[in-house]
Amino acid sequence: MSHSLRITAPATVSNVGPGFDLMGFALDEPNDILQVKRNNLNSIRIINESEANIPIDPAKNVSSVAIQSLLNKFQIKDGFDLIFEKKINPGSGIGSSASSCTAAVFGVNKLLGDLETKENLIEHALAGEFIASGSLHADNIAPAMLGGFILIRSYDPIDIVKLAYPKNLVCTLVHPDLIIKTTESRKLIPNNISLQTSISQSGNIAALVAGLNTNDYALIGRSLNDYIAEPHRSKYIPGYSILKKRLKDCGVLGMNISGSGPSVFALSDNLETAKKAALVMKETFIEKDIQSTSYISGISELGTRVLD
Ligand code: HSE
Repeated sequence: MSHSLRITAPATVSNVGPGFDLMGFALDEPNDILQVKRNNLNSIRIINESEANIPIDPAKNVSSVAIQSLLNKFQIKDGFDLIFEKKINPGSGIGSSASSCTAAVFGVNKLLGDLETKENLIEHALAGEFIASGSLHADNIAPAMLGGFILIRSYDPIDIVKLAYPKNLVCTLVHPDLIIKTTESRKLIPNNISLQTSISQSGNIAALVAGLNTNDYALIGRSLNDYIAEPHRSKYIPGYSILKKRLKDCGVLGMNISGSGPSVFALSDNLETAKKAALVMKETFIEKDIQSTSYISGISELGTRVLD
């Protein structure tokens, strides 16, 4: 049996417009890398070989908490080193903590001889995500683990649906050089919404699923609106409203905030438009004196996996 594995897990776009805490998809890139190694210490040790700012204390590290949930379930006392080569920056809105959690539980589960199915590992990864965001949301964890475009129908019990989607959908993702913590970003959203908001939001979620399922690009575009998080969070992304208008003019299907931000994403039905959108995003952030990193990516079916 192997003593050490290098695991990779994809970045993810969660919420996807109207699907607050309910929808997410996995990107072809960027991908996180984590090495998981048995140790003789009967405890979890964190080794950070990246420039990302992550807690070294196992009680505060999302991956370690996720692993502990798996070990507790099977009353296992074995120790593991987690060696981080993070490529997804924390606080970027593309599922950094989720990829750390899925990579960790997937790797340890493999070293233990596959005690859990990939689907069942989600509940352990969620225990880690909880300490990053203060809430149990699986819209980054589920696509990071399983790949594809995911809908979470229910949290209690957890019920995850893999959605069909047009295979030529291209995502433009731009990460402005700002950090927004999910815990802080969630505090911006009111706990209650009106009946009218609930009706408008439900209409968009249902129509987005229908559009994805039938390759109806115009319907996908019309449905990428969000009445719950976007009005409150967009104020913290400089240039957001002008960006939205410019992206519409350049022909994307729709755009929104990726997860809790500050990254933004746009969906297009062709690569040329996706590339134009990346330029528009970059230039709009430069006008606000903000540098950014962009990715143009398909939706990845791969999920979390062994790298080598
Ligand atoms: N659904 C979560 C939120 C995703 O919007 O707070 C966090 O990345």
